[in-house]
Amino acid sequence: MPFQPLKSPLLILTLNKRGVEVHPILLIKLMKKLFTTLSMLTASAFLSGVCHAQDDKLLTVFSYRHYESDTELYKKFTEQTGIKVEVVKSKADALFERLKSEGAKSKADLVITADAGRLIKAKAEGLLQAGGSETLHKQVPTNLRDSEDNWFGITVRSRIIAYSKDRVKADEIKSYADLAQPEWKGRVVARSSSNIYNQSLLAAMIANEGPKAATKWAIGVRKNMARNPQGNDRDQIRAVASGIADATIVNTYYVGLLANSEDQKDRDVAAKIGICFPDQDGKGAHINISGAGICKHAPNKDGAIKLLEFLTSKTSQETFPKATSEFPLSMESSVPLLQSWGKFKADSLNLEKLGEHNAEAAKAFAAAGWE
Ligand SMILES: [Fe+2]
Repeated sequence: MPFQPLKSPLLILTLNKRGVEVHPILLIKLMKKLFTTLSMLTASAFLSGVCHAQDDKLLTVFSYRHYESDTELYKKFTEQTGIKVEVVKSKADALFERLKSEGAKSKADLVITADAGRLIKAKAEGLLQAGGSETLHKQVPTNLRDSEDNWFGITVRSRIIAYSKDRVKADEIKSYADLAQPEWKGRVVARSSSNIYNQSLLAAMIANEGPKAATKWAIGVRKNMARNPQGNDRDQIRAVASGIADATIVNTYYVGLLANSEDQKDRDVAAKIGICFPDQDGKGAHINISGAGICKHAPNKDGAIKLLEFLTSKTSQETFPKATSEFPLSMESSVPLLQSWGKFKADSLNLEKLGEHNAEAAKAFAAAGWE
């Protein structure tokens, strides 16, 4: 059909190939649409840029720690860097399960937990990635971090022998080995072997003395128990204070947390407890860390490294002993309670070894009937 112009030239603006005329009102509508689409595209490109910029300013931390002092440190970090820290708190196993199930979709940048044993397991399960820096290498001693920079220690604790000051003389106990001796029959309490703190202690013994000696020790201690393994570290200390047993094995900061508690009953418990850093003439007391691993799919890996550098810096390190009775990475603290425990020799074992011997430790506990 030949082209038929409209009568008014004002109404004729253009044609398509098939000779269909495009009415100006339609054109205006088309132009409006085009403009809206372009605006939306521009806005979305702009927003994605903004969002990316926001990602760099946001850090998601999965944490097993539940201390108010940690929150204060995150606030300081935000003030210094402009990076907001969002914390997801849960039990360690739950956090690692979540990391596993979320996979590449996970928003977690850093996972903070207690005990190198847990971080070693997380690395073995492919949940972490390498992310070191010169600062981190300087601030975290070699034996307290992963050799491939997947995890780093933040604080230190020693797994010590806590005893009743009423019933045990300070020189009566010097070594973990003492607790396995016949004279301690019915005088020891301990928590379950499913607990990572005990697994790591035994793994350290296996690394230092071999599986035979470690199994023999576990058998001896299990025989000396006043009750079946149960409860957490605080429960063991309370059992010693109340006379159920004379000694137990716990992490140092639990004695500190009871001593600094607002509850008078806790302070009374702590007052009855003496602390023995074992094996001062040998390998030294077993130490472990509270530490952090860089998550495999961290959207803000740089931020994670920055937070790690901040938490292991001198200023942050001074905060931990005051707030949680944990040792700083340097092991040097001016906090009176920690000083009252005295200087001690810590086992210098590289904590990576705990992972190597974890399965053997489980076997030794099973052989001992230490449930
Ligand atoms: Fe703990």
